[in-house]
Amino acid sequence: MTERSQNQAGFPVKGIYGGFGGTYVPKALEPILTEIAEEYEKCAADESFREEYLSLLKDYVGRPSALTECKNLTGTVGGARIFLKREDLNHTGAHKINNCIGQALLAKRMGKKKIIAETGAGMHGVASATVAALMGMECDVYMGEVDIQRQAPNVLRMKALGAKVVPVSDGQGTLKEAVDAALAAFCNDTSIFYLIGSAVGPHPYPTMVQNFQKIIGEEARAQMLERTGSLPDAVIACVGGGSNAIGAFTAFIEDKDVRLIGVEPSGRGLTYGDHAASLTKGSPGVLHGFKSYVLTDDKGEAAEVYSIAAGLDYPSVGPAHAALKESGRAEYICASDKEALHAFRLLCRTEGIIPALESSHALAGAIKVAAEMEKDKKVLVNLSGRGDKDMETISSIGAIGA
Ligand SMILES: Cc1ncc(COP(=O)(O)O)c(C=O)c1O
Repeated sequence: MTERSQNQAGFPVKGIYGGFGGTYVPKALEPILTEIAEEYEKCAADESFREEYLSLLKDYVGRPSALTECKNLTGTVGGARIFLKREDLNHTGAHKINNCIGQALLAKRMGKKKIIAETGAGMHGVASATVAALMGMECDVYMGEVDIQRQAPNVLRMKALGAKVVPVSDGQGTLKEAVDAALAAFCNDTSIFYLIGSAVGPHPYPTMVQNFQKIIGEEARAQMLERTGSLPDAVIACVGGGSNAIGAFTAFIEDKDVRLIGVEPSGRGLTYGDHAASLTKGSPGVLHGFKSYVLTDDKGEAAEVYSIAAGLDYPSVGPAHAALKESGRAEYICASDKEALHAFRLLCRTEGIIPALESSHALAGAIKVAAEMEKDKKVLVNLSGRGDKDMETISSIGAIGA
């Protein structure tokens, strides 16, 4: 493994967030990562790339996504007005498609014929299979066996879209192992394009994903100003790898009066193996090619993690969040399975919107935060995805209700 950072290489390398991020990979991956970074830089500076990306977001994904004020939920919770940024309404049902469109366009420009992806909740797998079909590329999606069971509807969607779902049985059979397997496949064949689904991984992935997701906050900022005449007092998003949260936060980072609040999963409780609250309970370390906060066991290996939400049980988090935590610009709080299920039910029953279990964590955080604020304050919640994929899980634990 080698590290390339500002200090070691002696020249500035992009992708360093505070003391986090960087590139910690086997030598075999270095040339392809450099090539992807260079091609990405060219695309980022190319107006025609941006036009193609934005026109697909408009005409294919259905952007801008709506901003919905939840008057009934606000009435029930008391306190600040709650607004939702409706990423659940995007084509394929989550924010993941924003990033997939961007990375697939890049892969196409690089002449790639095949993409691979990892997935936990299956939303990134579905979005990857979707863009592969659209752009005429082959697609393999690595998915843990436990997640294949609990997110079965998304496995069928990926297959219908022509993707191959590759089951991963190692370890806990969830997201971390899916990333391990996808990285190994990428090491073996660097002619393929690895379409990473969150703001994680070695440079340039965290930067690319942030830039392809920041449209969420840019739209929401303009919509809040237009609708209410001022910015929200807090922006709240769930944090797995951190892509929807960084996408929601980026446009507000310079607005110092806007609180940025990430919600991590405290699962069954903050004891070892029962949660995936990487920023709350982890410490700086390296996993999957980048430096960030990592949850580890007593041998220093990646810890076992758990959340009812398959998209949140990852033992690390994107480096931008590690830096935002250290600088104090963003706050990170937790929501448990129980709190997420309560929030899920409340949104269904008061607003007629069925949220993903991941997004239900953001809502649970928002409910706590809004309840402590004055009625003239506003909370913006990124509703990262819809809950269709979770109905079986929720029904099997008797949480849907009569
Ligand atoms: C709907 C939804 N929200 C949130 C997440 C968490 O990912 P991230 O933290 O990268 O936004 C996932 C991951 O699968 C997801 O499917």
